[in-house]
Amino acid sequence: MHPDGERILFTEEEIRARVAEMGREISRDYAGRELLVVGILKGAMIFLADLVRSITVPAFFDFIAVSSYGTSTKSSGAVRILKDLDRGIEGRHVLIVEDIVDTGLTLNYLVDNLTARGPASLKVCTLLDKPSRRQKPVEIHYNGFTIPDEFVVGYGLDYNECYRNLPYIMVLSPRVFGGGR
Ligand code: XMP
Ligand code: MG
Repeated sequence: MHPDGERILFTEEEIRARVAEMGREISRDYAGRELLVVGILKGAMIFLADLVRSITVPAFFDFIAVSSYGTSTKSSGAVRILKDLDRGIEGRHVLIVEDIVDTGLTLNYLVDNLTARGPASLKVCTLLDKPSRRQKPVEIHYNGFTIPDEFVVGYGLDYNECYRNLPYIMVLSPRVFGGGR
């Protein structure tokens, strides 16, 4: 394990198996339809890349980048779109793909924002759910793993842009971010 980690939460093998299972479930649910996968940059990119390879219906991608004002381990509440989708989503079956739902502020905002654009359907898929810190409700249709209130990195998730390329998900040692949450 990386020396900044406290413990591994999900191994590469566990993630691979669960992501493949999610892809099969999504493929069944969207049978006969075309899917527009909307990835939230940058955290969801590794998850999305693996997930779509287990999806068997025609899948198109677009990406959106958002920032929540605040420090790196705390969301402040306000959400701002840094990079919007390249194209309209009217009439499309949209699946938002996120790395982790924490306070829910990001997805609560994005679901409202994208719903206003008139998609045929809109669902949410997240690799991780940390329900203990929820401030705003988010309906999650596909969830990889539910996790306790700990700061995790790896498999796309970062702390100050570090650790995204780790193939597993680990709990970051509190000494790395000062433990002050
Ligand atoms: P909200 O609070 O809006 O936040 O649901 C979602 C975003 O917050 C980041 N986040 C984390 N990033 N480890 C991370 O690397 C974590 O444990 C964690 N919790 C929240 C993440 O960017 C996510 O998209
Ligand atoms: Mg993120």
